[in-house]
Amino acid sequence: TAQAMAAAGWPLLLLLALLVLSPSRPETGDIVLKAPTQVHGFLGDSVTLPCQLQLPSTEVTHVSQLTWTRLGDSRSVAVFHRTQGPNYPESERLEFVAARLGAELWDASLRVLELRAEDEGNYTCLFVMFPQGSRSAVTWLRVFAKPQNTAEAQNVQLTGEPVPVARCVSTGGRPPARITWYSDLGGMANMSQEPGLLSGTVTVTSLWILVPSSQVDGKNVTCKVEHESFEKPQLLAVNLTVYYPPEVSISGYDGNWYLGQTEASLTCDAHSNPEPTGYEWSTTMGPLPPSAVAQGAQLLIHPVDKSINTTFICNVTSALGARQAELTVQVKEGPSSEPPGPMAASTSDNRPVSYAPVANSSQDSQTEVTR
Ligand SMILES: *[C@@H]1O[C@H](CO)[C@@H](O)[C@H](O)[C@H]1NC(C)=O
Ligand SMILES: *[C@@H]1O[C@H](CO)[C@@H](O)[C@H](O)[C@H]1NC(C)=O
Ligand SMILES: *[C@@H]1O[C@H](CO)[C@@H](O)[C@H](O)[C@H]1NC(C)=O
Ligand SMILES: *[C@@H]1O[C@H](CO)[C@@H](O)[C@H](O)[C@H]1NC(C)=O
Ligand SMILES: *[C@@H]1O[C@H](CO)[C@@H](O)[C@H](O)[C@H]1NC(C)=O
Ligand SMILES: *[C@@H]1O[C@H](CO)[C@@H](O)[C@H](O)[C@H]1NC(C)=O
Ligand SMILES: *[C@@H]1O[C@H](CO)[C@@H](O)[C@H](O)[C@H]1NC(C)=O
Repeated sequence: TAQAMAAAGWPLLLLLALLVLSPSRPETGDIVLKAPTQVHGFLGDSVTLPCQLQLPSTEVTHVSQLTWTRLGDSRSVAVFHRTQGPNYPESERLEFVAARLGAELWDASLRVLELRAEDEGNYTCLFVMFPQGSRSAVTWLRVFAKPQNTAEAQNVQLTGEPVPVARCVSTGGRPPARITWYSDLGGMANMSQEPGLLSGTVTVTSLWILVPSSQVDGKNVTCKVEHESFEKPQLLAVNLTVYYPPEVSISGYDGNWYLGQTEASLTCDAHSNPEPTGYEWSTTMGPLPPSAVAQGAQLLIHPVDKSINTTFICNVTSALGARQAELTVQVKEGPSSEPPGPMAASTSDNRPVSYAPVANSSQDSQTEVTR
């Protein structure tokens, strides 16, 4: 059967676990040390490590000494002797909060003052009793520092390569904060750490990196900071800034203009950051014909005549440079009885022309004409 259990695998492990656990069970059932497994405090604050004896009323005992040690270190950090009182060999920032000379030693709770990073560790609380022997419990003291968090956009241009577009900093956390990002825009994070101002603290910086495009300008990415000292994660939204030259298209032509039509107009649609500063209309032949009048982004045509049978250019200027779009108008001899065809439908949409890193985009112009 032992072989069968070994073959099964886990029952053997269970058996081993029981064998390991059984010696640590208290011999006299009812004496209990009440101590939390974990206690945390903040740098510079005070914190109490509770440790109390719970004795059934039928039990009689005699506590001769309370001792606190750090796990992995045999030296005591605090001792309370029944007749000699307290002694703190390692530190002046410790005190027994309840133990008193001349009283029963049933409470070993220890206060740690002005917490430092190096106070973090596992502390063993030990009661030396007669006739029951000794009892001990271990408490993990954790020392926290609450970080300050900030997030900001990095102003970038169209580099064509991945660059940091947002920066999230969690300053002076202990343990180090965890930073993650929410983004619909793609990209990746690059995290780095450095020591914080206070000893034992860490400043975490995370950059959100992507290839800048005009589409991400004005979009949010969110930095999420998690820390042991927060009730819930802190969310910091960053509105991205990408500087880009004008992206230009011309709308308003339905492909159905005819000689003698009294009015028509074209609109120059441009996006840029910073905003466009100027619109200039012309034709591939030179200046505008007399029947076309520019009013900012609008071109008002009155009336439609032979001179309108041309290719119009809108030149948009911004602080980052000028870009053009072109549109070829084909004027018909007379009004068409047919409804506008597919070409007209696609010409009137406001799809922005994709940018290209060239000073004037003849490619853009062609897509404008042929789309
Ligand atoms: C304290 O003990 C806990 C549980 O055994 C362990 O996870 C932790 O790493 C220890 N802490 C230190 C500072 O040693
Ligand atoms: C993060 O940035 C540092 C410094 O710019 C760079 O050396 C490192 O390669 C980057 N890590 C990743 C994963 O991109
Ligand atoms: C980002 O800021 C710009 C300018 O203030 C604003 O127009 C835009 O709506 C903001 N974006 C978001 C996602 O809030
Ligand atoms: C974008 O971020 C700003 C703060 O930078 C916030 O006020 C706004 O609500 C966010 N907009 C969206 C759509 O998430
Ligand atoms: C567009 O306008 C700017 C500013 O007026 C001018 O410098 C540039 O030469 C113009 N470009 C073209 C192609 O007309
Ligand atoms: C406009 O030009 C096209 C060819 O580019 C020509 O077919 C059409 O007849 C012209 N329209 C007028 C009114 O001249
Ligand atoms: C486009 O730019 C080139 C130089 O980059 C210049 O030689 C050419 O004249 C420009 N064309 C127009 C229409 O502005």
